[in-house]
Amino acid sequence: MAEEYLGWTEELRTGHTVIDTQHRLLFSIFETMEKQIEPAEVGAILNELVHYAETHFRDEELLMAQIGFPGMGDHQRLHHRMLSEVRTLAEEHSRGKLSDWVRTKRYLHDWLRDHILKEDLAYIRFEIDQRKSKDL
Ligand SMILES: [Fe+2]
Repeated sequence: MAEEYLGWTEELRTGHTVIDTQHRLLFSIFETMEKQIEPAEVGAILNELVHYAETHFRDEELLMAQIGFPGMGDHQRLHHRMLSEVRTLAEEHSRGKLSDWVRTKRYLHDWLRDHILKEDLAYIRFEIDQRKSKDL
């Protein structure tokens, strides 16, 4: 079975330039995951994902706070849960307990894709509406 492409696709564009740039970077990590099959490199790439996701989630949360997005608390909880999942995966890998890498990288990719399409678009639409109503 051919592997699903894990990189950036146009459907993921939110229309927010800064957020889209950061999302592209995260998907470039997934794209690297498709190539990095050396077990020794898996740990490094999971740690890279934790690092960039932390920065990105923090920026999103700052933006949500600035615009007063009502769903911020729930969104923040999703971020925290995901970060702890990725940290757990990195830790499992370091103990040699991460068995299914193909499934893991697909899971991480699908989580972020679904999160962008549902959760991120919600606060970005809120931000765009807010900007429009100020311009009126
Ligand atoms: Fe988010």
